Amino acid sequence: MGKDVIVACDFSSKQATLDFLDMFTYCKPFVKIGMELYYAEGPEIVREIKKRGHKIFLDLKLHDIPNTVKKAMSVLSELDVDICNLHAAGTVNMMKAAIEGLTREDGTRPLLIAVTQLTSTDQKSMEEDLLIKEPIDKVVMHYAEKAKQAGLDGVVCSPLEAQKVHNICGSEFLTVTPGVRFADGDVGDQKRVMTPEQARLIGSDYIVVGRPITASDDPVAAYKRCCKEFIG
Ligand code: C5P
Repeated sequence: MGKDVIVACDFSSKQATLDFLDMFTYCKPFVKIGMELYYAEGPEIVREIKKRGHKIFLDLKLHDIPNTVKKAMSVLSELDVDICNLHAAGTVNMMKAAIEGLTREDGTRPLLIAVTQLTSTDQKSMEEDLLIKEPIDKVVMHYAEKAKQAGLDGVVCSPLEAQKVHNICGSEFLTVTPGVRFADGDVGDQKRVMTPEQARLIGSDYIVVGRPITASDDPVAAYKRCCKEFIG
């Protein structure tokens, strides 16, 4: 897999999602399915989008005891998605169990990446709510190193952290970065953002882009612009 733009399909129904994807007549964008759509429509929405020829990042952020995560990952591996994820906070043992569950009998498996610290968590909430006193970027790098140690393929991180993750974990370790906005676009509720071009320059492997494409008056043009800036 190379550099790509992943479109966050944060819709609440199958119909809205398929109507959106139908606009793309010239290509099959890489699609992110998150909790909202998956919980609304179940595994069938994954099969349907896969059948239409899209690559899928299934963003369910698993976090539970190792045995439960292993079994859940085993179910997800049958959906034939391309990337799935979990929380690094579940520990190295949980991440190793996840890989075991995800690996099919023939040895193949989807890519597995870890959420480090959610970008909605700031230093204050980390210290007060989670009792983690270290600086947030140190925590993110620590989680990335633990994910690598467990055998994962990469992390979800802010574009601002991607370069440092590559420096510490190697250039092969994938960085998947949300928080992308056009230079002339609305930031919305994202706090730390980068343009697709800046994300390319700092070495993100995949950018996850939602509203700048899905809420655009012309989603196909917005997607094309994103690809042009990010991939070239
Ligand atoms: O609409 P927008 O471009 O902000 O969408 C970003 C997508 O990436 C959303 O689906 C959001 O849930 C996801 N995400 C994020 N920040 C993270 C992890 C995931 O924005 N740290």
